Amino acid sequence: MKKNEFAKRRRQLMRMMGKGSVAILPAAPEVVRNRDVHYPYRPDSDFYYLTGFTEPDAVAVMQPGRRNGEYVLFCREKDPDAERWDGRRAGQEGAVAEHGADDSFPITDLDDILPGLLENCERVYYSLGFQPEFDQKLIEWVNGLRARARSGVTAPLEIVALDHLVHDMRLYKSSAEQGTMRKAAQISAEAHCQAMRVCRPGMSEFQLEAAINQVFQHHGSRSPAYPAIVGGGENACVLHYIDNKDALRDGDLVLIDAGAELDYYAADITRTFPVNGRFSPEQRALYELVLEAQLAAIKKVRPGNHWNLPHMAAVRTLTRGLVRLGILSGEVNKLIKDEAYKPYYMHRTGHWLGMDVHDVGDYKVGDQWRVLEPGMVLTVEPGLYISSGTKGVAKKWWGIGIRIEDDVLVTRTGNEVLTSGVPKSVDEIEALMAA
Ligand code: GLY
Ligand code: MN
Ligand code: MN
Repeated sequence: MKKNEFAKRRRQLMRMMGKGSVAILPAAPEVVRNRDVHYPYRPDSDFYYLTGFTEPDAVAVMQPGRRNGEYVLFCREKDPDAERWDGRRAGQEGAVAEHGADDSFPITDLDDILPGLLENCERVYYSLGFQPEFDQKLIEWVNGLRARARSGVTAPLEIVALDHLVHDMRLYKSSAEQGTMRKAAQISAEAHCQAMRVCRPGMSEFQLEAAINQVFQHHGSRSPAYPAIVGGGENACVLHYIDNKDALRDGDLVLIDAGAELDYYAADITRTFPVNGRFSPEQRALYELVLEAQLAAIKKVRPGNHWNLPHMAAVRTLTRGLVRLGILSGEVNKLIKDEAYKPYYMHRTGHWLGMDVHDVGDYKVGDQWRVLEPGMVLTVEPGLYISSGTKGVAKKWWGIGIRIEDDVLVTRTGNEVLTSGVPKSVDEIEALMAA
């Protein structure tokens, strides 16, 4: 992402905040994995969205109209010894020269300098409740100002939810963001194709996961956007199955839900295919029903339609199909109203997608479903899950879990499926696996 993209976002945010306000964003803390080993550092999405800065121990402050510069970045000082062990730091010079800060101070000076920036400010934009220690600091700074009331200092009157403003911005993807998401989607599609090519009965689920991750990393994705789900047979019916340790059996399906993160943007793809390369009649019947539901839902992704229309289309198609297959019986409208499909389809048809896999942004405005607009990206991911022993369902359907998930960008005229690079029709999948 170019520097200018971050500057544009900060300007947009500060326009919305208006004069007399200040925004404060602490970077995410590092997280210990075990003893002295940390998880690979991943910046907080809101923080990165506005700064493009990827070091921990930093605080971004934005103050519309501040005379000595509107954007102040507190970060670690240069330290050749520490940098030899743990990697380079931007330091204060780098914060200004490389990262577009108007002004930068050492993070160790935060307590001395930040209260001064809050002085005589009416509103503080801050996301409360995510970093309790920082919440406490903010309270102390505000109390410090209150204590100086008699010397003419005024403390802020309001603390306003910064996340709400930023999350609405993040919901509309710029063309640069769309470009990055398109690339993350293409890499992920290629990884799913590779999984289909290499899959053989007897392999482990983790070996398929390795094949996926190899393609992600080969194309510059430093991490999956979330832990991959690779579930053979019955395991596909556990929605968040991430053990990925069983052997893949001849005659079973395997469900893979995996997406790459590229430059902090996520892809999120699910494909389900036969371990041996050929669908059985029952697998094919359920698979084609899920695919029909997915295509019906994708058709509903267009500007002017509301958020819930794709879900409603998926539910209607699935319910109709379950009646056709004899898994449900009754009148379709009544079955939908009674949510008779829920034992087999228990999740929603999608979510916003962006820097976070379950991305930010409101799904409702007041009591109305959000209307889709160009630049929004969502997943469309219906499924059917019939675990072994499901009462009232013929045995031939047991142990089949299927989901088909694509990433869809709302365009001016309809939609663009970003993840179309991986096949999903029965014929295409069988052909790819046979090749
Ligand atoms: N991969 C998580 C999801 O599909 O929502
Ligand atoms: Mn998803
Ligand atoms: Mn997924």
